[in-house]
Amino acid sequence: MTTDVSIWRATVLTLFPDMFPGPLGVSLAGRALGSGLWALEARDIRASATDKHRSVDDTPAGGGPGMVLRADVLAAAIDTADTTPGRPRLLMSPRGRPLTQARVAELAAGPGPLIVCGRFEGIDQRVIEARSLEEVSIGDYVLSGGEIAAMALIDACVRLLPGVMGKLASGTEESFSEGLLEYPQYTRPQEFEGRQIPEILVSGDHAKVAAWRLAQSEALTKARRPDLWAAKAAPTKKTTDG
Ligand code: ADE
Repeated sequence: MTTDVSIWRATVLTLFPDMFPGPLGVSLAGRALGSGLWALEARDIRASATDKHRSVDDTPAGGGPGMVLRADVLAAAIDTADTTPGRPRLLMSPRGRPLTQARVAELAAGPGPLIVCGRFEGIDQRVIEARSLEEVSIGDYVLSGGEIAAMALIDACVRLLPGVMGKLASGTEESFSEGLLEYPQYTRPQEFEGRQIPEILVSGDHAKVAAWRLAQSEALTKARRPDLWAAKAAPTKKTTDG
């Protein structure tokens, strides 16, 4: 395997390396992967197990259901995978800080993260602290493991990398980049089941189209995401935990 340090690289530590590239191997991200615009490395955590059963987990200290990923095994997996200083080290976890487009943009601008995918009931807290893992959640629901969450994060980053979107707009008009949800889109046919494309969009008046789209975005954001709308109204308010 060649290691080109100049390209954006996602290194994923997982118990299921066969899940990758999965959906990252098709469409926009897959084409960019194939043409060398980014790199993906899925590493098996189990390869760092040392006992004869190759065990990676054990019962929780203090009792309770499920199994916990061992600190020593995961630390060894991180240490052998991560040789780039300053590289973000993420742990996909429902208790993490919610992923935002702003954090995605930061991650896309860097060398690319090392991402640990949790499984079982959790991960020994000591490795999270000892290896400074940043816990990241993709939403308030619980997946059976971090792999699908890692794919979502990687996909969001990859589409921002130079050259990946080609002649598509660079995302400036999309949901979240201006703190607003995206306006509705239409295409031919002009009439669908009795519904017409809004008149203004076929008027050819670009200023009116832009104003209509902004108004739609604002109305949608107010109705569906009052949290985003409030943040937009008070853009200088910073979080204290970040
Ligand atoms: N692992 C399980 N659920 C998750 C979530 N919501 N976000 C990130 N990682 C997870």
